[in-house]
Amino acid sequence: MRLTPLFSAQEIATEVARLADEISADYADDPPILIGILKGSVVFLADLIRAMTIPAEVDFMRARSYGKGMHSSGSVQITKDIETVVEGRHVVVVEDISDTGLTVEVCVERIKIGRPNSVVVCALLAREGTPPPRYTGFWIAPGFVVGYGIDYAEQYRGLPDICVIEQD
Ligand code: PRP
Repeated sequence: MRLTPLFSAQEIATEVARLADEISADYADDPPILIGILKGSVVFLADLIRAMTIPAEVDFMRARSYGKGMHSSGSVQITKDIETVVEGRHVVVVEDISDTGLTVEVCVERIKIGRPNSVVVCALLAREGTPPPRYTGFWIAPGFVVGYGIDYAEQYRGLPDICVIEQD
C-alpha cells in the first residue's frame, strides 16, 4: 500500500482548534452532549473536547458500514446505542469522516428518537458533493483516507497525519 500525506498533524490541530472555538461559542449558554461515532471518531473527539472552552458530556454510538473494504456497503448497522438521555439537550454528533453521509444520517435519525432540543453534525472530513455537516474541518476530493482514527481494514488508525492510501 502507498500512503500520501494529505493533512499534517499540525494542520489538523489548527482545524480542530477552530472547530472547538466555534462549538464553544455556539453552545456557551447550554453545553452540548458530544456523541462520537465509533470507532473512527475517537481520536478527533479526544482532541476536540480538550480544545473546547465549555464543558461537554460525552457518549458514543457504534455504526459500521465499511467492514474491510474501501466502499460503503450501503447499509449501516448500529451495533451500540447511546446510554445518555438526550431529551431536551443539544447534541453534537462527532464524526471522523462523512463520506457518503449515510452513517451520520442513520445516527442522527436514531438520536432524534430521544427528542433532543437539537442535533447537528461535526465532521473533521467531509466528501465534496455530500450534504454539508453543520461543522466541517476539511472538504476532501475522491480518494480513500486513513490516519487520525480512520482505518483501512482496522490498520492505520494511529497515524498522526491523514493520508491518502492506494494499492501499489
Ligand atoms: C467509517 C467512518 C464513518 C463512516 C463514513 O466508519 O468512520 O463513520 O465510515 O462513511 P459514510 O459517510 O459513507 O457512511 P466504518 O464503517 O468504517 O467504521 P469504523 O468507524 O469503525 O472504522
